Amino acid sequence: MPDTLTITDNRTGETFEVDILYGTYPTYGAAIKSLDLREIKGSEDDFGLLTYDPGFTNTASCKSAITFIDGEKGILRYRGYPIQELAEGYSFLEVAYLVLHGELPTGDELETWDHEITHHTIIHEKIKKFLDGFRYDAHPMGMLVSTVAALSTFYPESRRIDEPEVRRSQIIRLIAKMPTIAAFAYRYSIGMPYSYPDNNLSYTGNFLNMMFKTTELEYDPDPVLERALDVLFILHADHEQNCSANAMRNIGSSHADPYVSVAGAAAALYGPLHGGANERVLKMLEEIGHVDEVPKYVERVKDGDFRLMGFGHRVYKNYDPRAKILRELAEDVFEVTGKNPLIDIAVELERIALEDDYFVERNLYPNVDFYSGIIYQAMGFPTAMFPVLFAIPRTAGWLAQWQEMLEDEDQRIARPRQVYVGEDERTPRD
Ligand code: ACO
Repeated sequence: MPDTLTITDNRTGETFEVDILYGTYPTYGAAIKSLDLREIKGSEDDFGLLTYDPGFTNTASCKSAITFIDGEKGILRYRGYPIQELAEGYSFLEVAYLVLHGELPTGDELETWDHEITHHTIIHEKIKKFLDGFRYDAHPMGMLVSTVAALSTFYPESRRIDEPEVRRSQIIRLIAKMPTIAAFAYRYSIGMPYSYPDNNLSYTGNFLNMMFKTTELEYDPDPVLERALDVLFILHADHEQNCSANAMRNIGSSHADPYVSVAGAAAALYGPLHGGANERVLKMLEEIGHVDEVPKYVERVKDGDFRLMGFGHRVYKNYDPRAKILRELAEDVFEVTGKNPLIDIAVELERIALEDDYFVERNLYPNVDFYSGIIYQAMGFPTAMFPVLFAIPRTAGWLAQWQEMLEDEDQRIARPRQVYVGEDERTPRD
């Protein structure tokens, strides 16, 4: 069977043959090169055929070896490893290393990696002055986006993006400093003094220390909550070519430095259609208010009054594997924090929806946002911090996507085409 596609242009009767490219899974990653279509012209002076794909719903913008998703089967793997196994047996820093380097670290590699990240968590004191400029009610995500961009001015060598060692230093700095900036933004917003990093704690233990330490001499994170945050971070480390990863690659393709590129990716994540959905799940559950009200609410969803937040996904047409892990994790967290009463409403909502033809026919299942907000709330994080909690671990994914893009010889500056629908040339009135 030839790996080609034959196209007949009915405008001219001409026939064209274009090659089909394959990824690891031929049934999942077959594509043709859009540029091959340029040969197909309706007339001599025709520019050639383009593909029209707003939102890139069916366009592969790159080849990637980082994350694999099969939305029909509910599969998510980083570098070939199923998300369930990574969430069960590894730490976030190990998974961040895997996402960035392609392999899980050996004992020595992990020790060096852990040491380097731990010893780059402190941010320049001038950053505090920068934070001071924000209004008292500034959203922590706005503060995070601007402050990460400002780091670019502290590390001007970061512009040397074609030097692997320089890139490596910035990757370590970014993964190390994101939690610090995030926690400082939160402390500023509630008028609390900043809590400095503690090198004796793990990545997530230290983040909890910077968020929640008050007057105690040393913060002692609860091991269950520390591990729960690690799992949440693992689940959010990467998700292939989503809106923010695409923003990272787009900005990076002009050879901008990684700090401003991460700031741009975080800005893309800030939108409610991407990183802000779990906040809306909480609002929905609060609005429902009681388990007995769930059937009425589901009927209104079916009548088209509104959508069930945290349900459905552009890619997953099966149970989002991350949601399954979070449902179990919620129970562990509640053992420590006490039960978040919203969980009963969520479980009942899921039960009714999964039995209902409306949801079954449309392949609507809980997504990662359905349970994450309930867990974060139980752990004491305010809703404004939810997108920030997403941005911290996703920084590893953004940087992996950025690095892969820079090392890919096929990649050029991102510059899509358009189908022009405006006026033809005309003359202004005398
Ligand atoms: N509740 C009720 N009905 C829904 C829902 C939902 N959450 N999601 C989709 N549908 C219905 C649509 O009304 C449509 O029905 P129809 O065929 O009768 O018109 C059908 O299912 C298909 O919906 P689309 O909008 O075409 O699906 P799409 O893949 O474009 O949308 C999306 C995916 C945006 C995630 C959608 O499911 C949604 O809005 N969900 C709620 C918001 C949410 O939870 N977002 C978080 C996503 S995860 C993340 O970003 C990290």
